Amino acid sequence: MSDRPRVWVARPLFDDIIERLREHCEVEAESDDRVWTALDVGRKLRDKDGAVLGVADPVDAAAIAQAPRLRAVANVAVGTDNLDIAALTAAGIVATNTPDVLTEAVADFAWALLLATARRLGESERYLRSGQWAGWSYRRLLGVDVHGRTLGILGMGRIGQAIARRAAGFRMPVIYHNRSRLPDGVEQECRAEYVDRDVLLRRADFLVLALPLTAANRHAIGATELALMKPSALLVNVARGGIVDDAALVAALQEGRLAGAGLDVFENEPALHPLLPTLDNVVLTPHIASASVDARRAMTRVAVDNLIAALGFGPDAGRPPNAVNPEALRNDLQRR
Ligand code: DGY
Repeated sequence: MSDRPRVWVARPLFDDIIERLREHCEVEAESDDRVWTALDVGRKLRDKDGAVLGVADPVDAAAIAQAPRLRAVANVAVGTDNLDIAALTAAGIVATNTPDVLTEAVADFAWALLLATARRLGESERYLRSGQWAGWSYRRLLGVDVHGRTLGILGMGRIGQAIARRAAGFRMPVIYHNRSRLPDGVEQECRAEYVDRDVLLRRADFLVLALPLTAANRHAIGATELALMKPSALLVNVARGGIVDDAALVAALQEGRLAGAGLDVFENEPALHPLLPTLDNVVLTPHIASASVDARRAMTRVAVDNLIAALGFGPDAGRPPNAVNPEALRNDLQRR
């Protein structure tokens, strides 16, 4: 058997980009998308040196313990909540992500969801396709104006900032809350005002979530937070399922305590809360915020470059540009 590193590519990506891995590694690439459990992933990683993974492909401590050769996992995503980073770091396995290249695509999509929810796009489409449109009505499918309303953003990293910058065209005041306040220059560029979290919840007409999922912010938006929001407000989630308590959200939507929601991510995706698809005041999309051709190609390229570097090849050999746990590289050296 060849002594080249062995790499698993968990999902069909862009073949021409994956081909670059083959210059350095033996590649086992999946040709179909499927749901991988942590156990499945563990089995795949047992004899691998590296892997290219998607957001839904979990790597847990048990998988890591059974993968003695594993040196790097490259997520094709900016989020890394599918990975047990502490266990990877302790084992000297570097994890990488794909920041920046998807920022603008995700921000575009957040606006698509916001507009679709405010102006009842999904409902209008369903109405038309089902053959119900028999003629004009001035009162049918009335939505709410977006321009001029207050945009609230929870999580003001790169994506939150890109969402905020787009608000100028809609002449919307922007308020935000973040773990730490942004420097003055960035606030000015985004025309965004920092407020306390509860003020954000109370004042926002549209609340967009753009924060990563961590243990600390699981259910950051639950019954208590929803109760602070205006009954006329809309919630948009392009961040992660699990940040919102879906059951509490469904109750608020059903009881008219929240006017609507645009959701790209779900607590137990790909499963949906059973009542979500029954609600007309939600727009639902299957975790596609970064799914433009340009963004997904760039994400694949960045993930492959990171993995090539982490396995010791190419111009950044040994220094993957987007290591989320660079201390793992030190632990790896100690292990060898
Ligand atoms: C990310 O990058 O974390 C996205 O959710 C994947 O599309």
